[in-house]
Amino acid sequence: MNSLAQPTVPTAAHSGSEVVLQVRELTVQYATSRGPVSAVNHVSFDLRKGEILGLVGESGSGKTTLAMTLVGLLRPPGRIVGGEILLNGRNLAKLSPHEYKSVRLSQIALMPQGAMNSLNPVIPIREQILDGLRDHGIQLTPAEADRHIASLLERVGLRAEVAKLHAHELSGGMKQRVALAIAISMQPQVIIADEPTSALDVVVQKLVIETLRDVQEELGAAIILVGHDMGLMAQTVDRLGVMYAGRLVEIAPMRDALISPQHPYTRLLIEALPSVTEKKKLRGIPGLAPQLLNLPKGCAFHPRCPLAFEPCSTITPEIRPAGPDRAAACHLLEVTP
Ligand SMILES: Nc1ncnc2c1ncn2[C@@H]1O[C@H](COP(=O)(O)OP(=O)(O)O)[C@@H](O)[C@H]1O
Ligand SMILES: [Mg+2]
Repeated sequence: MNSLAQPTVPTAAHSGSEVVLQVRELTVQYATSRGPVSAVNHVSFDLRKGEILGLVGESGSGKTTLAMTLVGLLRPPGRIVGGEILLNGRNLAKLSPHEYKSVRLSQIALMPQGAMNSLNPVIPIREQILDGLRDHGIQLTPAEADRHIASLLERVGLRAEVAKLHAHELSGGMKQRVALAIAISMQPQVIIADEPTSALDVVVQKLVIETLRDVQEELGAAIILVGHDMGLMAQTVDRLGVMYAGRLVEIAPMRDALISPQHPYTRLLIEALPSVTEKKKLRGIPGLAPQLLNLPKGCAFHPRCPLAFEPCSTITPEIRPAGPDRAAACHLLEVTP
């Protein structure tokens, strides 16, 4: 890779760990009757082998569009208008739908948002797991299939008998685990989990996250965990990416993000976390979430930003290094070293 092509975001060179996925200046637009909107806007980041990268941002910030694009499931009116998705150096953004099919599941897999509702109600779990393998031309004997499915189910904390059941016979948490079993059925190097815990109660949320973590440790896969629950992220991820209006506005090791957020939006997200020591009242971020069709000029966050100053309403800040192994997109970084 030409390092000149990736000037803005720290790379694995900082940590010495291997990078599996490099997203470079990825831009995805939806065609609408009022013109194109960029739901993912010049997003760049690296995903390192074996790490859990969290992606947060309020509803509509482009998280699902990014997740779907990375696994080649973006559908019209959405399309990639620029950038690269390099999986072990191979640019997936250039693949045909047919070519993508051979990469998806085997190398990069998605637990889709609302995964528990994406299971087919009339097909037993066993067949749904095998369908994915068959798509890749993998034919197992019944005995091999039994063994493989039992081991997958065990890995996600389910009994082998679950294979015979239908989705409606499972609880939400169990369905979520089945979706995870499908995602890991071919041992992909990258697993993207889009809001895997949103519809679950806190106890089941914890179980699903623990399962995700176990699976990641066992397989050595890298995980992108998409969500909007900063508390859950703080307990789960190694690094945090923050999205706002389609842009990645900050990326940093989770600890650093918590201790010293560099983007005012990240700071507000963290201040909204209920603190263990002080009984702070939980509050949202003031102001309205941005409308992609009507984005403010300059930094999209500036109308809600408590620290906005002169350039913010006119110039869009580029994401740039903001300390060791971190980057942020904020004009304040230019005035406060
Ligand atoms: N099929 C579509 N057509 C037009 N706009 C879309 C479509 N899907 C998503 N969008 C727009 O893209 C933006 C990002 O949506 P999404 O990726 O679902 O965000 P998130 O997952 O962060 O909530 C939203 O403003 C949404 O309205
Ligand atoms: Mg979403």
